[in-house]
Amino acid sequence: MAMVDLDFVKTYVRMCNDGWLQGWHERNGGNLTYRLSEKNVEAARSFFGEPREWHEIGVALPNLAREYFVATGSGKYLRNVALDPEANIGICELDEKGERWRVVWGLPGSVPTSEFPTHLMNHSVRKRVTGGTNRVIYHCHATNVIALTYVLPLTDRDFTRALWQSATECPVVFPEGVGVVPWMVPGGVDIARATSKKMETYQAAIWAMHGLFVSGPDFDTAFGLAHTIEKSADVYVRVLSCGGVRQTITDDDLRAIARDFGVTLNPAML
Ligand code: 13P
Ligand code: ZN
Repeated sequence: MAMVDLDFVKTYVRMCNDGWLQGWHERNGGNLTYRLSEKNVEAARSFFGEPREWHEIGVALPNLAREYFVATGSGKYLRNVALDPEANIGICELDEKGERWRVVWGLPGSVPTSEFPTHLMNHSVRKRVTGGTNRVIYHCHATNVIALTYVLPLTDRDFTRALWQSATECPVVFPEGVGVVPWMVPGGVDIARATSKKMETYQAAIWAMHGLFVSGPDFDTAFGLAHTIEKSADVYVRVLSCGGVRQTITDDDLRAIARDFGVTLNPAML
């Protein structure tokens, strides 16, 4: 038995590879983090090495104090994760105030993703608003989502409506809609703050000219959300390239879906 034989690590590695196969992770693009359950920590603890030095997050996240996260490494290629997990992903522990992190396993000579502040701030928000059920935050360079940020107004409403109307089951999967973050320099606390504000309301946020951030209670749900959003964006891009919308799902149709599937649509999007 080794760290890489634990189920949560295997599922994490599979998701990195799934994203690679979708074409969302050119070079070192994209990153994935998972907040360990107490059971996960128990199973993993005997594989932890000597903890490394502490690093400041840049913000205080007290509701994540002493939590553990798997994270892809900064500059690591998601296509390589399955080939050598220990070199490309790591496990980090947060301190007793939720202000610093340190690596306890993996990523020899390296550090977690440059988007770690955004991931951690998103984890903090999603943990709070989901009553602790959210565990996964995933960032990918989903091609069609990025393309749409060059042509649609960069508002939550415009993107939500375009996505809801381009695939019938979208309103069921993300009835609250999606958030849109304007173009910002990646990798810092500013974009982390802007994204985590969106995550108060939404399970997903789009980064203009960059990619997609999604959250979820488990790997399947988070990956499925990214996949659903990207598929819908793909349909919309094809519609635009075929000459544009001639008919679509109306607001009354959206309300009918919501009624039959038992979800409440964000009224601001209608
Ligand atoms: P990292 O290699 O640091 O994870 O950066 C990739 C990325 O997509 C930045 O937004
Ligand atoms: Zn990115």
